[in-house]
Amino acid sequence: MTDQASPRILVTSALPYANGPVHLGHLAGAYLPADIFVRYQRLRGRDVVFICGSDEHGVSILLSAREEGVSPRDIIDRYHRRNKEAFEKIGMSFDNYSRTSLPIHHETALEFFHDLKEQGVLKKKKEKQLYDEKAGMFLPDRFVMGTCYHVRSDGTQCEYTAAYGDQCEQCGNSIDPLKLIDPVSVLTGTKPAVRETTHWYFPLGDYQERLEQYVEEHAGVWRENVLQQCRSWLKEGLEDRPITRDLDWGVPVPTEDGSKKVLYVWFEAVLGYISSTKEWAAKQETPELWKEYWCKPDTRYFAFIGKDNIVFHCLMFPAILMAKGGYVLPENVPANEFLNLEGQKFSKSRHWTIDLEEYLENFPPDLLRYALALNFPETKDTDFYWKDFQARSNNELADILGNFINRTVHFAHKHFQGRVPPPANSTNAIVNSLPCSRPPRRVLHSRTKDVASARGSVEP
Ligand code: 2FM
Ligand code: ZN
Repeated sequence: MTDQASPRILVTSALPYANGPVHLGHLAGAYLPADIFVRYQRLRGRDVVFICGSDEHGVSILLSAREEGVSPRDIIDRYHRRNKEAFEKIGMSFDNYSRTSLPIHHETALEFFHDLKEQGVLKKKKEKQLYDEKAGMFLPDRFVMGTCYHVRSDGTQCEYTAAYGDQCEQCGNSIDPLKLIDPVSVLTGTKPAVRETTHWYFPLGDYQERLEQYVEEHAGVWRENVLQQCRSWLKEGLEDRPITRDLDWGVPVPTEDGSKKVLYVWFEAVLGYISSTKEWAAKQETPELWKEYWCKPDTRYFAFIGKDNIVFHCLMFPAILMAKGGYVLPENVPANEFLNLEGQKFSKSRHWTIDLEEYLENFPPDLLRYALALNFPETKDTDFYWKDFQARSNNELADILGNFINRTVHFAHKHFQGRVPPPANSTNAIVNSLPCSRPPRRVLHSRTKDVASARGSVEP
């Protein structure tokens, strides 16, 4: 039965980059919380569509391809398939899991780009950029590294030596690559030159007031971490943001000088939510149905993300949607902090990780869903410890819950011919009608042993 009184609900989870396997940290951030929310809404009979997919463009895909000596297409095909399958096995109930390399996404992203250009929203600007003369290419975003130049609020210098050309992972600030101290090309290790290039800019600054209003309308409802980060960006003052890059991997944009340019991955990836909803609608032969969720003002839109995606979802994406017009904005953007692994950050390069696939080779999905759900990093970073996982599986699920179910089923058989009896008038009447309880006993010993023994095989 559907709840007719409730408006449609649109839920999105951040599109993971298809350049590596999804790990438990990802799952606890933008995926499992969204799935639990969606399952709850569906149980309430609400009309909900749950959207996700692979983010298949950007420099991170190119760097992975380069590291492995394969094409970007090889990388995205591999990880799209593997992540989609792992999500299915862990019970993510997406209505659609799309890909940003699909024509429907390229068309959607270009429609936004052309429309904003025609409306006169976008500005074309000549700018200086770092250029690798040995590799013969510009060095956008993570193609360049150097020392961070940011000064903290206490006056000390960040000086992180491995800051990327777009962001410093130590102080969290965005980076102007031209200001990086001692920049080095990730491709050749050489010192980059500076050359001029032309790019399209989105005038984020023009949306400052509307975004301030949008953010403050949600004060008291959005999480503190989300509000604080938005306010801090707004306080700094928003500036024009370049939305094209000199690359040949991404959504190509037409150029007058024949140079190869694509849309900046963060401009088009967020539009992937819309193209994935379009794909979902087309698959069920109601191609216009996506508009019910994106364009009807009473839709309630919830965008689940990790904390590193806040600025893009709370400022950039809403500003793009405001500029385009006719789209709903997120009502809430629940951003989780990070889940760490046994006291340290998940890290692919340091092999300090538990991939979802690896977990699923050893344990059933629900044990993890339960253990993570009780330890979501909602207000602060939390840790995944194998010992906690073992205790929750054995003590809480097998012993307490298992015993409760075992006894309930046993009583139902013994006293009610194996059927759930109709409710009595008062709780006391039911309680009084039951025989005295026996002391609990351990059940599911085999599961207990399974968990304990299998644990050894995946413990880092
Ligand atoms: O941080 C990430 O993994 C990004 N791929 C998230 C993108 S969310 C949205 F823009 F698609
Ligand atoms: Zn820094």
